[in-house]
Formats: sequence, structure tokens, C-alpha cells
Amino acid sequence: FLVSKGNHRHFMEKEIHEQPEVISHTLANYLDFAKGTVRTDATPLDFSKVDRIAASACGTAFYAGLIGKYWFERIARLPVDIDVASEFRYREMPLSKDSLALFVSQSGETADTLASLRYCKQQGLKIGTIVNVRESTMARESNTVFPTLAGPEVGVASTKAFTCQLAVLASLAVAAAKMRGTIDEQEERQLVRELSEIPRYANHALRLEEQMETISRDLSQVKHVLYLGRGTSYPLALEGALKLKEISYIHAEGYAAGELKHGPIALIDESMPVIVIAPYDHWFEKTVSNMQEVAARGGKIILITDEKGAAASTLNTMHTIVLPDMPEIIAPIIYALPIQMLAYHTAVFMGTDVDQPRNLAKSVTVE
Ligand code: G6P
Repeated sequence: FLVSKGNHRHFMEKEIHEQPEVISHTLANYLDFAKGTVRTDATPLDFSKVDRIAASACGTAFYAGLIGKYWFERIARLPVDIDVASEFRYREMPLSKDSLALFVSQSGETADTLASLRYCKQQGLKIGTIVNVRESTMARESNTVFPTLAGPEVGVASTKAFTCQLAVLASLAVAAAKMRGTIDEQEERQLVRELSEIPRYANHALRLEEQMETISRDLSQVKHVLYLGRGTSYPLALEGALKLKEISYIHAEGYAAGELKHGPIALIDESMPVIVIAPYDHWFEKTVSNMQEVAARGGKIILITDEKGAAASTLNTMHTIVLPDMPEIIAPIIYALPIQMLAYHTAVFMGTDVDQPRNLAKSVTVE
């Protein structure tokens, strides 16, 4: 392999730190920052003729797609059905010819995602794929390729490919909104300006690394961790739990915060930290009331929020991670970074093989 770790202990650490740069490259492919518009040449697909998106992916790429669903539906008023590819391919979902089949994959080779793509192609659907490897099978077999410009990702646990997938999904949601007339020029400029700020905020998030390391020392002592979030923070809770279990082998679950009372609340005690992802957005108050239920049962809360959220919350937390206040659309991308750093440093404390965790493969080309 020609890619080197440079000064980093692991590829994963290097890839986490590359994010401001690679996200910036990726965004520049979809957005014209000088004009404050989406680049229509990078989106050679008429979203005004699409009535639905049928999306599928595996693993971390699936969670990126799940966040994308919130954006497409809210900003572009375009409904998105999304499923893991291993279910999608056998589900025999009724597909309309005006649906866009959208796939998300770092490698472009994952067997289930590729099979889903071929299934949709057979049904006569237009195929769009967000993919990191330009020469991959999925890229070749798609009508439209939306590249992520993350560069080669070596660590088995996806980091920079994930945030670049999110950058593409957010840009496409804005492009779709423009084509469908759900935003005007001023709103387009505003959203493009907000997206252009991702690299700056990502750099800010990386500066929290020391605090993440301190918290990770505590996490490396526990057996179970629960991640909670609402809205776009919900898929991020799922991703946080996946990242932690993949590389540290600590059991972790991600839940929609509102589902807490439907099951996981039974697990809460002093020995299980609850990581709550809660920017000060329109879901914040609801999430805080869920945290109160956790606190009342002696649960230890690690809150990831922003300045406004930290000021508004009256809860006793074990740790509070405070990011700067930021535009709502970019929050899921920036909040991914502390989550990745927590998983990374916990795994380092556990002494696991961070880049090559047991039983996992970077690219799963068998069913
Ligand atoms: C494997 C990797 C994950 C990745 C998933 C999907 O499980 O370990 O990091 O998210 O495959 O891979 P893809 O290449 O399709 O994004």
C-alpha cells in the first residue's frame, strides 16, 4: 500500500485529522463558493423529475444515507426510503420509474449494495451512487456518480469517507431543493455559505481531542454504552455506537432519544454511560427531557452539545463536550468528529488493533 501513516499512530487517527481538508475538496466539487450556488454541472440529474428516492447502503454508509434522508425530506421535500442493502435487495419493494435509486459506498464493491444497485437497474430505475473509489464496480454501473474526494481510506472503521458522504448528501439536498423550487436564491446562498464553513468548524472540533482522550479513559473501563440523539443526531447515535463497538469491542447501542422509554431505560444504572448528542436545535428541549429520565435513574451522562445547549441544560453530567454554535445543517458532520475521537481513543486505551479490528473487513465483497 502506497499510503503512509505519516506522524500518526494509526491510519484511523490520520484519517480523522484529514477531514477538514478532504471535506473541503469534496464540497468544492458540488458548490461554487464564490457565487454561493450549487454547481449544476456536478449534479447532472434533474431532481424535479424525481418523485422519490430509494436509497440503500451498508454499515457506516447506511447511517450517512439515513442523515441524508432528513435533509432531502426537509429541504427538498423529497421523500426518501432507505434500508440496509441486505434487506433492500430481497424486499421486493414497489419501485416507481420516477424514483431515483441512490447508493452510498466508500469502496463501491460491497456485495449487498452492488446487488441492490443491479436489482434497481433491472427495474429500469436511474442509478446514482455516492462513492469514494472512482474505478469501482458500482461507479462503473451507475448512471450518475457522485464522488467523495476523501482519498484512500485504510482504517477499517470509516471516518473521513463518512463525513465526505454527508458533505455530498447535504450538497445534493440543496441542489434538489433548488431544482424543485423549495428554496429561493437567497436560501440557496445561505445554505451554501453554511456548508462552506464545515472545514473551519471541523478544525475546531479536532481541537477537543485532549478532552476526548480524557473521557475515553473512563469509557475504556465500562462494559456497555448507550448513545442517544433525535433528528439528524439519531443516525449519529447509531454511528457512534457502531464506531465504538467496531474498534474497542465495548458493547454499545444507539437509540432515538424518544425511544428510551420503550426499552433501553431498563438498562440504565451508574455503570452504563449514556452519550447524548444534542446540539441546540429544534429537538434540543425534547432530548433534554429524555436526559432527565436518565439522570433520575442514576445514569451517567456524557453530553455533546454547543454553547447554547450547555448554557440551557441544567443537568448534572459526567462530562460535557462543548462545540461552538453552528448552523443546523452542518451539525451532524461536525458532531461526527468527537464521536470518532471517542471511539478511537477508547480503542487505544483498550489496546485493540484499531486499524484492523478482529473479524471485520474494510470491504465486504461476499454476501
Ligand atoms: C464494512 C466496513 C465499514 C463500511 C461498510 C460498508 O463493514 O468495515 O466501515 O461502512 O463495510 O462499506 P462501503 O465500502 O460500501 O461503504
